Amino acid sequence: MIITIDGPAGAGKSTAAKLVARRLGFEFLDTGAMYRAVTVAALRAGIDLQDQGALAKLVESLRIELPGDRVLLNGEDVSVEIRAPQITAASASIAGSPAVRQRLVEWQRRIAAGRDMVCEGRDQGTVVFPQAECKFFLSADPKERARRRLRELKARGDNTTFQEVLEAQEARDARDAARDIAPMVPAADAIVLDTTDLTLDDVVARMVQEVWRRQGKSGEQASHS
Ligand code: C5P
Repeated sequence: MIITIDGPAGAGKSTAAKLVARRLGFEFLDTGAMYRAVTVAALRAGIDLQDQGALAKLVESLRIELPGDRVLLNGEDVSVEIRAPQITAASASIAGSPAVRQRLVEWQRRIAAGRDMVCEGRDQGTVVFPQAECKFFLSADPKERARRRLRELKARGDNTTFQEVLEAQEARDARDAARDIAPMVPAADAIVLDTTDLTLDDVVARMVQEVWRRQGKSGEQASHS
């Protein structure tokens, strides 16, 4: 069974997706981490981020693995580097590349084939897994999302300001939503959850309940399965 979770930056997708996966005994696929790993490789190689030919060649040459919470690029652990603000900013350009998207979509489908997986990103319910059994789109008020992101960055020792986080987030969301290829939109059959006033526990509980409902299990049966 495939569950997709899409939505804008900072809506709480990753944290919620990991917890939902754990509660259901599913695996978790962070597709944003794949775009970030390609971004690291492109910046290191000094490639012009608009040069589609060079990006196509680059992405063919990469090996990206996601063991547990780690991200390996050609065997090297880049889990910390992919979260740096300059990688975050450049990732929206990389994500607009048709060559990169085509390759990553293929990988994502191959990874998930025949498995129970929670797949998180921007286009999982629309493009990558249009037949997914259960689709969610998480949104939240932009200021609340920026506050959450700022808390995360501060916890990592980054001293950015609220205004910087908000502006970077708005720029990234606008690019993700407006691009020609696989724009960030809820799938027609996605459940849209506004998480602004919900706790993480509430969000996870609602998603898990919905999956159980679709699996034909009640909460009581599911807790014993
Ligand atoms: O989710 P995360 O913030 O890690 O994603 C980084 C960037 O990768 C996003 O801003 C978006 O441009 C891109 N992305 C995408 N499609 C996905 C996942 C991420 O375009 N499925």
